[in-house]
Amino acid sequence: MATRMKSDKELRKSVQPARAPLPPGPEGHSILGVMPEFNRDPLEFIKGCRDYGDVVRARFLYVTAYFLYHPDDIEYVVSTHAKNFIKSMSLRSNFFQRLVGNGLLTSEGEVWKRQRRLVQPAFHRQRISAYGDVMVDYARRMIAAWRPNEVRDIHRDMMRLTLEIVVRTLFNADVSQDADKVGRVLSQIVKPFASQATIKWILDNRLPTAAHRRFHREARQIDDIVYRIIADRRASGLDQGDLLSMLLQAHDEDGSKMTDRQLRDEVMTIFLAGHETTALTLSWTWYLLAQNRFVEQKFHAELDDVLGGRPPTMDDLPRLKYTDMIVREAMRLYPPAYGLGREAIDECEIGGFRVPRKTQIFMFQWATQRDPRFFPEPEAFRPERWTEEFSGSLPKYAYFPFGGGPRFCIGNTFATMEIVLVLATIGQQFTLSLAPDHPVSILPAMSLRPKDGIRVVVENR
Ligand code: HEM
Repeated sequence: MATRMKSDKELRKSVQPARAPLPPGPEGHSILGVMPEFNRDPLEFIKGCRDYGDVVRARFLYVTAYFLYHPDDIEYVVSTHAKNFIKSMSLRSNFFQRLVGNGLLTSEGEVWKRQRRLVQPAFHRQRISAYGDVMVDYARRMIAAWRPNEVRDIHRDMMRLTLEIVVRTLFNADVSQDADKVGRVLSQIVKPFASQATIKWILDNRLPTAAHRRFHREARQIDDIVYRIIADRRASGLDQGDLLSMLLQAHDEDGSKMTDRQLRDEVMTIFLAGHETTALTLSWTWYLLAQNRFVEQKFHAELDDVLGGRPPTMDDLPRLKYTDMIVREAMRLYPPAYGLGREAIDECEIGGFRVPRKTQIFMFQWATQRDPRFFPEPEAFRPERWTEEFSGSLPKYAYFPFGGGPRFCIGNTFATMEIVLVLATIGQQFTLSLAPDHPVSILPAMSLRPKDGIRVVVENR
């Protein structure tokens, strides 16, 4: 039989290189995929999947997820090819949309670009350095009530402290009662949702349950307060020197400013993104210090040497080098944001594997920052490892507690400053040890939390 001449199209097809293969990964249940295994122990599951390689495929019900473990692949997604990725579907859930709308954390494309341009100056180092005193004052006020040898839940203390600080730096003091209410209600309503594992949100429960109805009612209450604060501030025209004033003044080259709706979305975003993450870093740092006396002694020695008994200020930060290394190391072992999520817009190839469009991609600080290829003795708490030489030789995305690329955490300087100042203020006066019979366990929810708090005994130094 005569062979048929191949058409142009067929010829082109036949000379195209073979498509890259799909990556390996656990099979999981025929319907649920890896969901049951994941839910049993998310952190173990994430770590265990590394055995399949640097790019791993896992199915959660009807959603295909890839886990990336190698810094080069993470860099590809969050930085060099960031244009081909949007935030993962978990961040587009009803819950998030209702709370933060089109704020910086969740928006995309041109909307995000403009907002980032407008909000960025409010987080400039010089501008936020004015908040250093607020941070130290609130920390001093808190410890004034501490009694030697009492047992405290240091996580609860840190949550309250960072909430007060964010309320003051956003809204200043003139609206204190209203602002406090926003903080209180917001931290309450995110609780039931925030305690779910991130990937569970893929299922985004839309049923009108009582909890959902309450959530929407409370979200409306917060909206009312925030809109009222914005209206009052607009009417007064005063620059209060706080973040809200900065956001109100921010304008584009064409002179256009943010609408009330955008202001509200950014205010809520800053609340949500900024307060718990900072509190968690502080809590986990105290937890690690309480178990490492040698590190704690060096920490105290630095405080005594640099501060000589006076309260810390912004100017002290460059000299609190060891404290800074402690924080870096704590964020390596207990990154509050323990995973980043993205969705592929177009098909692409990562690490030699095919990534179909709409694949949900997860990159875990939790796993990569504990990878022995990049961190010798990865489970050990060793602030000393953070020499300039070590930091310089580390692949860029082996350590990414604040994310990276264009969506890099806008509050990272604010957070680092707050963490070091609060640690220094408390560490000057108190030493913390773990309370007996209160084991600490990790709850990988929206962020990496201590499941039942962290109970410590506080003693005067
Ligand atoms: C230790 C504390 C903090 C940690 C670990 C942290 C972590 C992160 C991470 C990992 C991202 C990137 C998310 C992604 O790419 O999907 C992010 C973004 C963001 N963070 Fe933070 N953050 C912290 C503190 C703060 C503070 C104090 C604020 C504000 C006061 C803040 C505001 C934001 C905002 C607005 C974004 C979105 C930026 C954008 O997409 O343009 N964060 N943060």
